[in-house]
This record gives sequence, C-alpha cells and structure tokens, in this order.
Amino acid sequence: MARRVREHLDATLPRVWGDLLEVAASAREQLGQARTLIEPDQWQAALGGEVERLTENGQLEHATERLLSKLERTLFDSPKTGLVSLVGAGPGDPELLTLKALRRVQAADAVVHDRLVSAEVLAFASPHAERYDVGKSAHGGGSTQRDIERLLIDLACQGKRVVRLKGGDPFVFGRGGEEALALARAGIPFEVVPGVSAALAAPAAAGIPVTHRGLSSSVTIATGHDTSAHDWHALAQTSGTLVFMMAVEHLDTICAQLIGHGRPTSEPAAIVQWATTSKQHIVLASLGGIATAAREAGIEAPAVLVVGPTAALSGRLAPEGTHAEAVAV
Ligand SMILES: C[S@@+](CC[C@H](N)C(=O)[O-])C[C@H]1O[C@@H](n2cnc3c(N)ncnc32)[C@H](O)[C@@H]1O
Repeated sequence: MARRVREHLDATLPRVWGDLLEVAASAREQLGQARTLIEPDQWQAALGGEVERLTENGQLEHATERLLSKLERTLFDSPKTGLVSLVGAGPGDPELLTLKALRRVQAADAVVHDRLVSAEVLAFASPHAERYDVGKSAHGGGSTQRDIERLLIDLACQGKRVVRLKGGDPFVFGRGGEEALALARAGIPFEVVPGVSAALAAPAAAGIPVTHRGLSSSVTIATGHDTSAHDWHALAQTSGTLVFMMAVEHLDTICAQLIGHGRPTSEPAAIVQWATTSKQHIVLASLGGIATAAREAGIEAPAVLVVGPTAALSGRLAPEGTHAEAVAV
C-alpha cells in the first residue's frame, strides 16, 4: 500500500513529497506506541522547516532524526495527555543507558524509580522533576506493586510525563509487564523503552560469553528467588549457560538442585555482584564450591549466578584485577 501511494506521488507530485512520506513513515515506526499521542496538525508542523529542507537535499536520515526529535519534544511538551515510559536503566553503569532512555529521563516531570537504579542515572533527571523512590527491598519492604501502579496512573492523569525507571530491562524480572497491563487497563498511554539487562551485562562484564561456539549454544535466565517454581530436571539438563538472578539467598538450594539433577559438581560457575559498577566483584568456583566461595567473599545482592562451561573463560577475559577470589574450576 505504502509503495503504491509512493509510486502515485512520484508520478503526480514533486519528488520531495514522496521523500517526506518516507521520512514520516520511518519516524512513525521509531516512535512506537507514543505516535498515537501526536495530533495531525502537530505532524504537519513538525514536517515543515528544517525537516523539509533536509529532505529536499536528499538527507533523508538526517531529516528523520530531526523530525523524530521535533515530535518527541512536541509529545513531551504537550500538557494535555500524560505518558508513562517504562524505561530500562541498565545494570548500573550510566553509560549503558540507551539514548532513548536518557532522553525520556531528561524530559520527565516525574521519575518513579527502583532501589537498584544508580544515583548517576537519576542525576540525568531535571532538578525540577518529582522523584519517587518506590524500591522494594529483598524482604518485601517499601511500596507495594499496587501502590506503584496507582501512583503511575495518578501522575499520568495529572498530564505528567512519567518515567518509570527500572534496573536492567523492565520486562526481565522487573514486573514491567504487570505495570504495562495496569496502565493498559486504566487507558493510560504508555511505552516500553528496553534496557540492558543484568542477566546479560553481568556475565559480559565478568568476561563470560553466555554463548560461545563449541561451548554453549543456549542461555537460560531464571529466578533464584522462587526456587520451587522450576522444573530442575529440565534446567539441569540444558547443556547451555544458566543465569540465575536474585540468586544470593538460595545459592545452596540452586547448586544442590542442579547437581542433584545431573550437572557435574566440577562445572564452572561464577557470581558477579554489582556488575558494571565500581563495586563489581567476581567470584569463580566450581558449581560444588560456589556457594561457600560466595559466602566467604561476603557476596550479597545484587548478584547473578552464572553456571556453564563459559564461566571458566572469566579467568582469561575479565578485566585485570577484578577477581577477588578464584577457586580452581
Ligand atoms: C528484581 S531483579 C531485576 C532485574 C532487572 N530488571 C534486569 O533486567 O537486570 C534484581 C536482580 O537483578 C540482578 N542485578 C541487577 N543489577 C545487577 C548488577 N549490577 N550486578 C549483578 N546483578 C544485578 C540481581 O540478581 C538482582 O537480584
């Protein structure tokens, strides 16, 4: 359809119109769900001026970028509708924030954040932005999930640009799905801005490739919190890398279950705590020894447990001086 419209325009109208259509389509796609909040007259205004000039010059990529930034500004300057952005803040290092996440945080009227979002990332928010720390502790203190959902809805109903900032990726053990469903039910416009999950960033920062030709052809991300939820036989029988999040409290159970269901006690394992931050701490041991090694090293949350042959590569690939303990694997 778009191709036919384009052909028709090319045949009947100046070429720039067809190119403008292409630029608009590309910006529309990149805006995702947020595009539904932009009115036709706002599109028309944004397509004029510099966007039109760049398009005329054949600089379609630049024109798209310019259009996108004009539309985003329009979107966030619009006082009539609130928008909730469920934003992944990455694993801790502020440089691992995506460009889109940065833009949303800078433009936010209200930032609703978790405990694990680093102070450096929060510092990108405007000093005028309202801040709500709704972090839940490992033992369930802090706001309830229902309180958080209600707060997001209230703020959006006040017409605010709300950024719900979560560690890592909002949809990886971040309860982002529940919040998205609550917003959808309440008819609140929202978008999801994916983030770099600690599930992948922590092994990477510790020099552990989660897949590696000849060593691991799959990666499974599991919770270490609700250990009764797993089919341990199935988990142990996968030959690839296993990554457990929220693993510290039940380390003994996790390792015992994996060994009990067939993973060798000698299998390489690693714990990576505070990955990508200045407090990063890596402990390497065999699967049979990692729980004791982690305890001796004083490991506490947040940390991920990585189990699989590639964990042994950490000894060679981790940045120098980052292993506090390395037990023979
Ligand atoms: C509630 S889950 C949230 C996960 C997050 N949504 C993500 O995608 O990274 C919290 C767990 O993520 C892991 N985690 C988060 N940040 C981490 C970091 N910087 N280093 C190691 N583990 C981290 C820990 O296992 C922690 O217990």
